[in-house]
Amino acid sequence: MLRKIRPILFAAAFGLVAAGCHENEHAAATAATAHPHGDAVLAAADMGADVKDAVAMLHGTKGNEKVHAIVHFTETGNGVKVMAHITGLEPNSEHAFHIHEFGDCTDMDKAMSTGGHFNPEKHQHGKPGDPNAHPGDMGNVKADATCMAMADVTLPAASLTGKNAILGRGVILHEKPDDYSQPTGNAGGRIACGVIGVAQVKR
Ligand code: CU
Ligand code: ZN
Repeated sequence: MLRKIRPILFAAAFGLVAAGCHENEHAAATAATAHPHGDAVLAAADMGADVKDAVAMLHGTKGNEKVHAIVHFTETGNGVKVMAHITGLEPNSEHAFHIHEFGDCTDMDKAMSTGGHFNPEKHQHGKPGDPNAHPGDMGNVKADATCMAMADVTLPAASLTGKNAILGRGVILHEKPDDYSQPTGNAGGRIACGVIGVAQVKR
């Protein structure tokens, strides 16, 4: 179903969801997927060499099925610019937003399969924009009265490929706001999970 819908229709669908704060008719299609082996893995790694645009689609975990997000990542040469559009939150609620180590949302009960914060250089947890924080610490997003939230942050210590590459990692939206305490901001459960993949870019 998703494959047939063009991006502009996605935007329209999200708009409708946001307006009424209703659950959309999201089909939780969890098709069995084959694991790539050997050459397929190498080909994927080669393809990653010049990726400048990536995207993650986040789906709500158990009990949070209303939550959806589309997150775009763009390589700037000075970090990765992140733009997110999130729907289905509680009105005026605030939520921590992080990149976690594993692009693995197979645990859609609690999203613990994404591991901890992506932390390749053994930094402390911190605020977005701080080069000494974890590369994927994106701070907080705040929902408006229509249950929608936006994020627009740049991650100076992250890149899509190469050193501190976030391509293939997980994106987590948390139950609670990030208070920037150690080790991970005291943000509670994981309400939505997605994987950062190579984006199709139409130029
Ligand atoms: Cu997190
Ligand atoms: Zn962190």
